[in-house]
Amino acid sequence: MSEPIRFFYRGAVHEIRDAAPTQTILQHLREDLHCTGTKEGCAEGDCGACTVVIGSLEDGEVTLKAVNSCIQFTPTLDGKALFSVEDLQQPDGTLHPVQQALVECHGSQCGFCTPGFAMSLWGMYVKQEGKRPSRCQIDDALSGNLCRCTGYRPIIDAARRMSELPPVAFDRAALAERLSGLQRSHGFSYTAHGQRFHVPRTLEELAALRAGHPAAVLLAGSTDVGLWVTKQMRVLNDVIYLGQVAALQAVEEGEGMLEIGAGVSLEDAYAAVCRHYPDELSELWQRFASLPIRNAGTLGGNVANGSPIGDSMPWLIALGAQVVLGSGGGQRVLALEDFYLGYQQKDLRPGEFVQAVRVPLPRPGLRFRTYKLAKRFDQDISAVCAAFAFTLIGDTIASARIAFGGMAATPKRASTAEALLAGKPWTEDTLRAAMAALAQDYAPLSDMRASSSYRMQAAQNLLRRFWFETRTNDPLPASSVNAFALAGSAA
Ligand SMILES: Cc1cc2nc3c(=O)[nH]c(=O)nc-3n(C[C@H](O)[C@H](O)[C@H](O)COP(=O)(O)OP(=O)(O)OC[C@H]3O[C@@H](n4cnc5c(N)ncnc54)[C@H](O)[C@@H]3O)c2cc1C
Ligand code: FES
Ligand code: FES
Repeated sequence: MSEPIRFFYRGAVHEIRDAAPTQTILQHLREDLHCTGTKEGCAEGDCGACTVVIGSLEDGEVTLKAVNSCIQFTPTLDGKALFSVEDLQQPDGTLHPVQQALVECHGSQCGFCTPGFAMSLWGMYVKQEGKRPSRCQIDDALSGNLCRCTGYRPIIDAARRMSELPPVAFDRAALAERLSGLQRSHGFSYTAHGQRFHVPRTLEELAALRAGHPAAVLLAGSTDVGLWVTKQMRVLNDVIYLGQVAALQAVEEGEGMLEIGAGVSLEDAYAAVCRHYPDELSELWQRFASLPIRNAGTLGGNVANGSPIGDSMPWLIALGAQVVLGSGGGQRVLALEDFYLGYQQKDLRPGEFVQAVRVPLPRPGLRFRTYKLAKRFDQDISAVCAAFAFTLIGDTIASARIAFGGMAATPKRASTAEALLAGKPWTEDTLRAAMAALAQDYAPLSDMRASSSYRMQAAQNLLRRFWFETRTNDPLPASSVNAFALAGSAA
């Protein structure tokens, strides 16, 4: 019989012995623990009604992250703490400041979304240790929560009000002690209902499992894989979870580059890269999905999934990033663009997994920008995502790298336009010629997000925008990139 999954919830250690390995945390809360405060809206990570906070030990410190419980599988809770809306009320029955503020500011009508908002706000409250958050922090914390009836103003008022109420402290040291007793020194496998869930802790264990179970699904942050189960009703009989492999969780700065382990969350990965490219990437960071999706999803998962409309690949390819592929036989390192062979086809050999992504650091003369076009400011998939990385010597283009998402079956470089640009002066005539060359590089599809002609015109105009910005060295205000999206921004 397999070892049980053990996690901390509402003051006690819980064990799961017979739930299917792809049972979601939301299902476990509602159906097994009968804690029905957490709601299901969309079951695909979009609405935030199911938001919970997960506590884990990282280098001996407790980290708390809001995630969407509807797409997270219960075995990923092993060794962690789960917090749901049932945790907020104090033992004497007093409402937590988050709840009290929502009441006082009329932040709830039908109430269906409210537990999710409360947990996103609680995650921010604990992180801020009760201090008043800025409007920007509030918007980001609530970027994954939708409300259909209250309107967002009273909820934002509540986010401000909660810091004015008598504070409630969170005892991190006590949680760290509880969690340290739940940590395993070895990998383990959980089996139930004929399905297996492997949790390796070292690269060697991962490589051996990958070789021994070639059909197993690799699971990182579950923000794509979770939907295979909740939306496509796929049965995953064999899953290898990457979230406990310590070697995949590190960000290291080497000579001229940053190496980001495949298991580093999108939030932490973008934070690390934005320290080097604050003007160029911060807006994309904020607009990538929502905070709960970025807390769970990984950069390695984004790269390995390799969606043609994924947001990380264009800027990674434009900067000249490499992907490190691990296996029992050692490592292979590829230029990221060479990893994508065709729609949903990657150069990933049997036994291999994405181990890390290497991101070049800024160098003299580099002019780099990335732009996302989508109908909403956050929590929306791109229609077109563009990245330009030119090396300019004076006014001459020493080299040009251009990559787009949403323009082809894979994230793809604009090799015709790049060749035309190299060695030319960065003038309006050169710009016009390069804009025209983009039509030879791409033949985009029409779909529900955008028509082919919209995509092409948008791509050409984004190159023009880059030209303006590199002439003035001053990013245009975001509203002029995507005025429609910003006007429709929910949070
Ligand atoms: C509501 C919502 C909004 C989203 N918004 C965006 C967005 O704005 N921009 C965007 O780009 N994406 C978006 N996504 C997609 C998703 O969040 C990203 O693709 C994410 O980076 C996937 O990472 P993950 O760790 O969750 O991967 P998982 O779901 O765990 O895995 C994804 C795929 O990669 C494979 N895989 C994972 N890790 C490895 C590895 N180390 N080696 C080999 N294979 C591996 C898995 O087997 C699977 O095929 C969104 C998803 C949701 C649900
Ligand atoms: S139910 Fe909508 S995000 Fe989970
Ligand atoms: S209060 Fe009804 S959906 Fe938000």
